[in-house]
Amino acid sequence: MIIGSQIILREKSLADARDDYAWETDPELAQLDAAPTITVTFSEYSADYASELRHPAPTSHQFAIDTLTSKHIGNCSYYNISETKGEAELGIMIGNRDYWDKGYGADAVATLVNYIFGETNLNRIDLKTLESNTRAQRCFLKCGFTPYGHLVKDGFSFVLMETKRNQWQEQQSKT
Ligand SMILES: CC(C)(COP(=O)(O)OP(=O)(O)OC[C@H]1O[C@@H](n2cnc3c(N)ncnc32)[C@H](O)[C@@H]1OP(=O)(O)O)[C@@H](O)C(=O)NCCC(=O)NCCS
Repeated sequence: MIIGSQIILREKSLADARDDYAWETDPELAQLDAAPTITVTFSEYSADYASELRHPAPTSHQFAIDTLTSKHIGNCSYYNISETKGEAELGIMIGNRDYWDKGYGADAVATLVNYIFGETNLNRIDLKTLESNTRAQRCFLKCGFTPYGHLVKDGFSFVLMETKRNQWQEQQSKT
């Protein structure tokens, strides 16, 4: 369990499947993430979910985001972990709209970045977000990510953002 100011990051469990299914079948959320809306039934989804929990991919690490009162509001992860390059990508979704624009996303991202640089040997974290998703960009900017390029993929335009261990260390030394 990793504790932030407003959130707790914890390991995923089968009990999260219901929320995750609701969020992954929500067209607006899928659109904000440039992801396809899933169309499988809940029983198919939960069977795959259980299998992924039993056999997690070695190149990714997922966390549930809970409020300090243990309400599950979203998920975040780092994935495409490359030990040789010392890099990983970061992803986040606050699925519960009641918790948007209240600092939960920024706290989850900052807590995950602290964990990655504090507890692993990775030196760089990057992410991509839709150019149209200005809320997400603002959230990542608040957490020390800086834009470094653009990518057009599958008809979507993304802003690429990154943060590096030395920037994080500099920031840590100021606080
Ligand atoms: C993107 C997301 C993680 C951000 O988390 P959050 O808790 O809502 O964000 P925060 O409150 O930490 O920060 C959002 C900031 O964006 C600002 N904001 C909100 N709407 C905005 C808009 N349309 N344009 C610009 N800034 C906006 C908020 O005012 C806030 O900035 P402030 O703290 O300086 O006032 C969350 O909203 C989410 O998961 N949304 C749905 C899925 C998604 O977009 N995923 C991201 C995929 S990369």
